[in-house]
Amino acid sequence: MTPFEAATHDDPYGYYALLRQQKALFFDADLGLWIASGVEAVEAVLESPDCRVRPLHEPIPPAIAQGAAGDVFGRLMRMNEGARHRCPRMVIEPALASIEMKGVADMVARVVTTLGDSLKTTDELMFTLPACVIASLIGLPSSRMQEVAKLTRNFVACLSPLSDEAQINEAHSGATQLSRIFSVLLRDDRSESPFLARIRSESKAIEWADEEALIANLIGLMSQTCEATAGLIGNTLVALHRNPDLIGHGQPARSLVGDLVAEVARYDSPVQNTRRFVAKRCTVGDTILEAGDTVLVLFASANRDPGLNPDPDSFLLKRSHRRAFSFGSGRHECPGQQLALTIASEAILEWLQRQPSSAVRLDRWSYLPSLNGRIPKFYLAEEAR
Ligand code: HEM
Repeated sequence: MTPFEAATHDDPYGYYALLRQQKALFFDADLGLWIASGVEAVEAVLESPDCRVRPLHEPIPPAIAQGAAGDVFGRLMRMNEGARHRCPRMVIEPALASIEMKGVADMVARVVTTLGDSLKTTDELMFTLPACVIASLIGLPSSRMQEVAKLTRNFVACLSPLSDEAQINEAHSGATQLSRIFSVLLRDDRSESPFLARIRSESKAIEWADEEALIANLIGLMSQTCEATAGLIGNTLVALHRNPDLIGHGQPARSLVGDLVAEVARYDSPVQNTRRFVAKRCTVGDTILEAGDTVLVLFASANRDPGLNPDPDSFLLKRSHRRAFSFGSGRHECPGQQLALTIASEAILEWLQRQPSSAVRLDRWSYLPSLNGRIPKFYLAEEAR
């Protein structure tokens, strides 16, 4: 197995344990990259200012560089360091932190009502619901939510090295349309959401007035939500299938589902790894990394490191001081963590409420092709036969 195959393997956790025993940071000559699998190495790489989110010579992947998807990608805080990271982060992080989670639960309920019957598959629950909630939070009218969710999915497809030409073309078209929709929204004073109002006031406070970058980073909020939250909801459904007694019978308390989702995020992370690119010679622990090196950072492995949590291979709903790298760490740590956990919990509550009438079976799934995302695709009852 390789660490890329591990992301979508049925059970990669024994393999990750072997990697950690071998050496927490080692060079894999076959893959031509460093692998960070232990807690200290993962933390140190993510903290290092010399380990960047993109290679210096390639800020945008060549496959998308000549088009709208590349233009958006090149402005995302997630894909930048320095001012192009710092400015949008200084605006968006406090805006996300100001969101009241009770309001998010109400928003999910409204979106569920709007989506109605179209929410009957796990695919819609995992992908469409979270994206629609973010669209609504940003301030788009409910009549546009589903369209925006679909365009986001098209855009996200180009972020994988596995994407083919057709997906890349769809991604360019998705990025063009999303940019237009958000540009119109930003010019329409009447439709301003509290979230957008906060973004405007934070932008003013730091005198940041780059509208194209703001639009790209609003698309970024949609795209960062899309697959990762789908994976968290899906992996929670897998955990419930494996152990239906986890939350007892009947409709569980909201807080119990919150504990469940948080432990799934640690135990079976939807984002299994990320990459860093060494910009200049640096030392991580006792290892020297050279400019041009690539490091594959295994979040999902570090989550199972006994140095991070006691008894890491046990699934414990009531973990005290749960620690995980599933939302990253350091300057690029996910600012949407609380929001993601809340949306996923609400989605699971909604799913539980619909049982047992649902046509969905959870006993057969496979993971969607990916080098870093762990997102189950469940088969419909008739497909499973
Ligand atoms: C289960 C759902 C989610 C997971 C597992 C997740 C995970 C992550 C991870 C691992 C990173 C860091 C990547 C790296 O350092 O290489 C990240 C960054 C980010 N996430 Fe999330 N995320 C989720 C949902 C969300 C949501 C709902 C939002 C906002 C609406 C969001 C916004 C962001 C942004 C803007 C960044 C880039 C931060 C920066 O570069 O400074 N994420 N996320």
